[in-house]
This record gives sequence, structure tokens and C-alpha cells, in this order.
Amino acid sequence: MQDGLQPPECFPLGEMTAEVFLRDYWQKKPCLLRAVWPGIETCLPIDADELAGIAADETADSRLISGTFDKRNWHVDYGPFDSQDYDKLGESDWTLLVQDVEKHYPPLKNWLSSFSFLPSWRLDDIMISFAAAGGSVGPHTDQYDVFLFQTSGKRRWYISDSYNPKLLEHEEIKVLQEFSEDQSWDLEPGDLLYLPPNIAHFGVALEPCLSYSVGLRAPARAELFADLAEWFAREDHQGGRYSDPDLGNQSTFAADPGEVNSEAIGRVQQLLNTTFPGNNAPEENPVLADWFCQFICAYRLNGTPAPAETSLSEIELHGLLADGSRLYRNPWSRFCWRNTGNSVCLYATGMKVDCEPTLAKLISKPGDELDLQAAGITFTPDVGRVLTALYNHGHLLFESD
Ligand code: SIN
Ligand code: CO
Repeated sequence: MQDGLQPPECFPLGEMTAEVFLRDYWQKKPCLLRAVWPGIETCLPIDADELAGIAADETADSRLISGTFDKRNWHVDYGPFDSQDYDKLGESDWTLLVQDVEKHYPPLKNWLSSFSFLPSWRLDDIMISFAAAGGSVGPHTDQYDVFLFQTSGKRRWYISDSYNPKLLEHEEIKVLQEFSEDQSWDLEPGDLLYLPPNIAHFGVALEPCLSYSVGLRAPARAELFADLAEWFAREDHQGGRYSDPDLGNQSTFAADPGEVNSEAIGRVQQLLNTTFPGNNAPEENPVLADWFCQFICAYRLNGTPAPAETSLSEIELHGLLADGSRLYRNPWSRFCWRNTGNSVCLYATGMKVDCEPTLAKLISKPGDELDLQAAGITFTPDVGRVLTALYNHGHLLFESD
């Protein structure tokens, strides 16, 4: 990332402190922050042409949505797109949306470091949209918090927290049938609108404009249970089976062999209650903590890091670093760490490794380059062991990879 593109100190909350934001707005109510990055439109990391370049790549997750709320004529197409696709749409009423842009342009990941007032493992991706005048994706709600950052042009955002949840009948797009706003704002380059989940919102481009959205992730209970079940099967943590050695006791035997009586349900409940040993204190639930860290590193990831083509030994990796090669986090890898009581475990998508705390904290930051020197970390055998394991699994890359 060029120097001019580094987020300013105040980004993304401007004059507001993280304390005030978290206390008064986070997951509670929308918050409009003006001029959190003045002058951003003159040093955009990704402009409309570069966004179209990414959308032309078949590995990118891109959509073109056209239509207006008045006409209810929404249409969705999925990428890759070429210039003819845009020509067909004309001058107005369409939006190009590209998910996971920071995976395609990793320097953009440095922006995410500015969100250090939130757990980094809650961050999902950076979605960039380019809208022609009148472009909109229609009124809708999202299940996740989102930071909508205006980077060029103007967009009018309408919001409503009391809305009729009825959706238009459309196979591919979830647009509210009705919408009347409680509030609206015109966002200019450098402004940011934070929306918690389930606030109906509707942005319409007043002129051709670009918006960058930082989305959060929050797994649903059903998703947690589904993954947990797979994890138990995979890890062979079958944790016992339904058993009823007390059947000889007539009082527990159902009056009819076809009945599932309350004693049977009690045994099922008992079995499920032993899923996570320990009481309810998180530090006494290592199985739950271990599973969750592995789960969250893979949750909502649209790509998986491939192992290194050629594995390196610790000595080889050290040699490359000593020669000045720079290490980067794989943009498709997610990291987090947890204190296991006597040590620290670092998790990366699909793997975990014991790790020294300073290194675990550095790796788990959402930035692009892994600058050991700037973090004051020297290459000890233990550091070498962790970096080599991560490199060989594809979670760290050299510039040449
Ligand atoms: C957009 O950028 O056009 C839509 C973003 C959103 O509504 O979440
Ligand atoms: Co939205």
C-alpha cells in the first residue's frame, strides 16, 4: 500500500473514542461519522476501474444489481464481468458489488488494523460497490454489523428501525416490499455510517460513487451446532452413547415399548450435558474453546489457503528472512489465539500450534505484512518452528509466492 493510503490515526471513528462508540452505538444504534478520512477520494486504493478489473476475475465474488425501488424491477447477475456487461446497463440504476476485495488486493487488509477496537476474528471482509447514478441494491436488512464508508461520489442513505419484514418475491435478492425511512443522510467522500444488524437500510447513488463496506460476522446458533456436530465426528470426540443400564428398574420402563418416556429424554439430556466437561466458566471448557477457535477461523471463508508448493525447513526460512525477504499473511487465512492456561495456542484456518504470546498476537492482527522486526520479535528456534509450520500450511507467504 502506498504511504498516502494508510488510514489516518482517527479512522474509522473520527473524533469519537472507541469507548463511546462501543458503549452507545455498537450493536445498538446507527452512527454517522463525518469526515473520518478527509481527502480519501484523491488517494483511493481501489477505484472504479480497478474494481471492474477484480470483477473480471473468475475467482472474484461479484454481482451486478440493477433496478429501482419505484419500479421494483430488480435484476441480479453474477461475475465475472467484462466491459460489455456494463455497456448493456447504461448510465444509471445499477451497482457492481465485489466481496472479499482485500483478498484480491491484500494491502487493503491494512485498513482492517484500524478496527482494533473490535475482536479481529469478528471482521469478515471488505466489500466494495460502485454505483451508477440512481444505483441501489434496494431496501434490506443485514444480519451483521456493517461500516459503510463513502470513498467517492455521493450516496443518500435511508434507514428505518421499524419496518415491515415482508420481502419482494424474488429468487435471488432479498429486498423489502415496503420501506419508509426514519432518517436519511447524504454521505460524501470520507464519511462513514455504522449500522447494527437488522436496521432496514437503503442507499441510492446521487452520482456515480464508490462505497467500501467492512462487514462483521456473527455465527447463528444453528451454524454453531452444525459445525460442532461435524467436528465431533471428525475429532472422534463421540463422548459416549445413549445408555440405559437401569432399564431393569420398572419405574423407568415405559408402559408401552413404543413410547419415548421422560426417563429416556432425561438420559438424552444427561448425555448432551456432558458434551463439554467442566462447569460454565469458559476457562474450564477447553473443548468448547478449542472447537470455537477452529470454527471461527474458517467461518464464512470463501476460499482456503493452499499448502506451500515447496515446504521449507526452519533453517531455509530463517535464511530467506535474513536475506531480506518479507513475510505476508495469506489473505485467505484467518488467525486468532487463546490462552490455554499454561501456554498460548495460535489458530489459523485448518491448523493450530503452540505459540509464544507476542508472536501469536502479531500474527493474529489483520494486516498484510508480518513485520517481525517492527514488533521486536527475533528469530528464535521457537519462532522458527511456528513460522515454518504456518508457511508450509500456506498461511504465510513470501513476496515471490
Ligand atoms: C452497497 O454498497 O451498495 C450496499 C451495501 C449494503 O447495503 O450493505
Ligand atoms: Co446492507
